[in-house]
Amino acid sequence: MMRRFSDIGVAVIGSGFIGTVHLEALRRLGLQVRGLLEVSPEHGARRAAELGLPRAYRSMEELLADERVEAVHVTSPNALHFPQVRQILAAGKHVVCEKPLATTSQESAELVRLARDAGVVNAVNFNIRFYPLNQHAAAMVASGDLGEVRLVTGHYFQDWLLLDTDWNWRLDPAEGGMLRAVGDIGSHWLDLMSVVGGSRIESVMADLATFVKVRQQPAGPVETFSTERATNTIPREMVTDDAATILLRFEGGARGALAVSQVSAGRKNSLQWEIDGSAAAAAWDSERPDELWLGRRERPNEILLRNPALMNAAGTAAASLPGGHVEGFADTFKALYRAVYADVAAGGPAERPIYPTFADGHDEMLVNDAIATSAREGRWIAVNRA
Ligand SMILES: NC(=O)c1ccc[n+]([C@@H]2O[C@H](COP(=O)([O-])OP(=O)(O)OC[C@H]3O[C@@H](n4cnc5c(N)ncnc54)[C@H](O)[C@@H]3O)[C@@H](O)[C@H]2O)c1
Repeated sequence: MMRRFSDIGVAVIGSGFIGTVHLEALRRLGLQVRGLLEVSPEHGARRAAELGLPRAYRSMEELLADERVEAVHVTSPNALHFPQVRQILAAGKHVVCEKPLATTSQESAELVRLARDAGVVNAVNFNIRFYPLNQHAAAMVASGDLGEVRLVTGHYFQDWLLLDTDWNWRLDPAEGGMLRAVGDIGSHWLDLMSVVGGSRIESVMADLATFVKVRQQPAGPVETFSTERATNTIPREMVTDDAATILLRFEGGARGALAVSQVSAGRKNSLQWEIDGSAAAAAWDSERPDELWLGRRERPNEILLRNPALMNAAGTAAASLPGGHVEGFADTFKALYRAVYADVAAGGPAERPIYPTFADGHDEMLVNDAIATSAREGRWIAVNRA
């Protein structure tokens, strides 16, 4: 008999913007969140009290020594993912790591190997896959409803780094990695389109742009999506991408084009995609997540309003509410972890997990490598999966 989620102990590392979303989703599923680890014991104690958690661990060692913690969620800044996940795997615990899995593909390759050797459940938080209509669309494409996939286009735009006074740890390559807009949000689109479109990215032709050449770094730390302005700042030269335009070739023969930007005024968190197939088309917009547009040549187009009674099995499995009761960003975390913790409850990863694994996180890092090389060398670069 499968274990109950309420018998499984979990800990969360980081309690910023997204750590809090992880925590809430885990609670909705009935998992037992035993505590959190923060940048300092003091900040941890404060956040544990605010979030109603039983404890804040004082160190990674203390967290890993808690035998009732079977799985750990890593939601710290990017550069910490590799060292923290490595420690968690060495302790034999299951891991859900935020994207990007690491800041280099050498590191992500090592994490794939270590997770496999440890035999634990390993997931990368590509939550956007788990909007029910994205699951539905992936199954539609897989069953041939759109015909042969020809064109995969879209964008991922935000505006929270538009001004030179906007600051976040992501702007520092030592914390965020060498690709910023592409690594931070483009990665979601690239992962999503490999899944919905049904084939991996084979090669890329990329152009990266740093429009804001100097930014004003506040003297103290800043929370993600914060709108407060600091008075004491230090000018910093920027080396990472505010925006990118990328041409894509997929293994199945499809062509694609993606625009990514964190400097698009008015676009708060706008991921859009369209897939044009030989028989029909589909399109989706993260700011209207309960609507899937289906484009037809011989009959009127359709809008499928997310509805467990009308979606295929994959879409229905990711849904929590009846049609017309809008589901959104936070709900994708619940749907993702429902799949992840089914494997934790079963004792280990399924042969073909339905959630994104470290292998998927690593594959996206290889695509990022090709994007960085292509932008540097000004030519098409094949994704190196050798
Ligand atoms: N899947 C998504 O949709 C999504 C959305 C946002 C962020 N993310 C990812 O989540 C991660 C965190 O991003 P965020 O926006 O929540 O950032 P954030 O700055 O809001 O939060 C990061 C948290 O980590 C804590 N922290 C820093 N150093 C730590 C340490 N040594 N040990 C433990 N905690 C530490 C910080 O104090 C902070 O609470 C990033 O990797 C980011 O790419 C994913």
